Amino acid sequence: MEKYPGKTNIAVFISGRGSNLKSLINHSKKKNSLIKIILVISNNPDAKGLKYASKARIKTYGIKFKNKSNFENNSLKLLKKYDIDVLCLAGFMKILSGNFIKKFSKPILNIHPSLLPKYKGLNTHERAIKNKDKFAGASIHKVTEKLDSGKVILQKKVKILRSDNVKSLEKKVLKIEHEIYPKAIDKILINP
Ligand code: GAR
Repeated sequence: MEKYPGKTNIAVFISGRGSNLKSLINHSKKKNSLIKIILVISNNPDAKGLKYASKARIKTYGIKFKNKSNFENNSLKLLKKYDIDVLCLAGFMKILSGNFIKKFSKPILNIHPSLLPKYKGLNTHERAIKNKDKFAGASIHKVTEKLDSGKVILQKKVKILRSDNVKSLEKKVLKIEHEIYPKAIDKILINP
């Protein structure tokens, strides 16, 4: 697979809507962007996000999650084939094994809708509201074997208003997700 001069080859794993993928695609198209999104893989072949990628003429693969090792082995082959330098998880709702992380051996980033280390796992906004937190937010972190626990690269917070509910908070947080994921990728590329 050819390398694009001055660009880092990126793959993105998604499971559904793909709004973060869309923000990464938009970022990659900017003049002087450091990244080229080469490949998008979804464990869900019907994921809406795959459509954005095809529209942007990016290679897409839906690999049904029959079991973890089948998905991971097929993905690893593609990551190698396309000479991927950084893997970005963007709304990818499966947990990658230590074996996969070791075999890929290059940086893997994830976006998580909370101010890590708070609220690892699911239902982050519900838990923040229930606990009457003053702030919520999003984090980009390195992926390690331990769920949502790798080094945080970038984080941004938003105020939780008394009038907020899960839906309104999700909307506010998603907006900052779209802002910080591209910045976090550039950050690790400039200063690995
Ligand atoms: C985003 O809010 C992302 O932070 C979250 O899923 C959503 C995907 O939206 N990811 C996780 O919860 C990972 N544990 P998108 O498909 O529109 O990017």
